[in-house]
Amino acid sequence: MEQSFNWGIIGLGRIAHKFAQDLKYIPGARLHAVAARDLGRAQEFGKQYQVTHAYGTYEEIVNCPDLHAVYVATPHSSHAENTIMCMQAGIPVLCEKAFAVNAHESDRMIAAARKHGTFLMEAFWTRFLPSTLSVQNEIDKGTIGDVVGLKADFGFKPVFDPSSRLFDPQLAGGALLDIGVYPLFLAMLFLGKPEEIIAKAYLGPTGVDEDTAIILRHEGNVLSHLHASIRMGTKTEAYLYGSKGTILMHSRFHEPCKVSILQEGERPQVTQFDSPGFGYHYEAAEVMRCIRQGLKESPALPLAFSQTMMESLDEIRRHIGLVYPNDFLK
Ligand SMILES: NC(=O)c1ccc[n+]([C@@H]2O[C@H](COP(=O)([O-])OP(=O)(O)OC[C@H]3O[C@@H](n4cnc5c(N)ncnc54)[C@H](OP(=O)(O)O)[C@@H]3O)[C@@H](O)[C@H]2O)c1
Repeated sequence: MEQSFNWGIIGLGRIAHKFAQDLKYIPGARLHAVAARDLGRAQEFGKQYQVTHAYGTYEEIVNCPDLHAVYVATPHSSHAENTIMCMQAGIPVLCEKAFAVNAHESDRMIAAARKHGTFLMEAFWTRFLPSTLSVQNEIDKGTIGDVVGLKADFGFKPVFDPSSRLFDPQLAGGALLDIGVYPLFLAMLFLGKPEEIIAKAYLGPTGVDEDTAIILRHEGNVLSHLHASIRMGTKTEAYLYGSKGTILMHSRFHEPCKVSILQEGERPQVTQFDSPGFGYHYEAAEVMRCIRQGLKESPALPLAFSQTMMESLDEIRRHIGLVYPNDFLK
């Protein structure tokens, strides 16, 4: 029988609930501790998921007995602080995307992980979804030949609320760090680190990007066309164009989705990838597997990948003139 693996969560918002619900799909995984900025809220969340320990400050969770890993589910602006606190206490972390606000912060997080010999991984769940893995497999097999281009978008139109996580610059709001990371992730996963980046954006009344267009040039003059928006709903699809065909990751490509392989003169080969729950258990299972094997990072999603993503996000932000209060922190 699998030995039980005790998870903790810092920041009990929307995604924390989804993550807590998905843990039931991993044999041996259990939610052991939760931490909120308010004890009552932590206790309420704890009751809902039969959690043993509920804390009213984030600092308390690192002293929780028998804790095996923490999932950091706070706004991007707190990821570095929350993660470094856990690294210093030797508590492994799965940290939500965007991994940090800027590359300086992610560099500090990774340095803390290495210094304290503690496991750290970005919670880029899309990396571990069967749909994404199947696309990776088809590309590696050469099904569509050489990849010659990528197009991906992610857009939705939330109600404008200047104090919400999505629009507040204090919380590193905006389309790019919240959802633009998904098209960027795909481009970097399938085409590698960009050699050149250009971007344009509409910055809304709170100063964060509400509509951002990005072009990346990769090795071999392969281009990625990326779009992220909280100003309009878009299809949220991804196309990978190859010399012998196209792979379409249907809407919404960042979650368990349908994948079509389109080749001239042939019927589309369509696969629907369903998942129990939301699909967050795949990334959590990867963390558990790595920690049980004594690894300090995931070979499938290494820290160098997350750092390169943050550097590319910084470069995109330079192009669009997007600055956050966190950028002035040392
Ligand atoms: N992987 C995915 O599919 C996915 C989906 C959505 C979001 N996310 C990521 O997860 C993170 C959280 O997103 P969310 O949608 O869950 O946000 P949310 O609903 O606003 O929850 C964030 C939680 O962080 C805590 N927090 C700490 N400092 C805060 C502050 N100054 N202002 C507001 N909340 C603060 C709060 O928890 P307490 O009050 O309990 O302390 C809050 O409930 C973001 O980095 C986001 O990018 C990932």
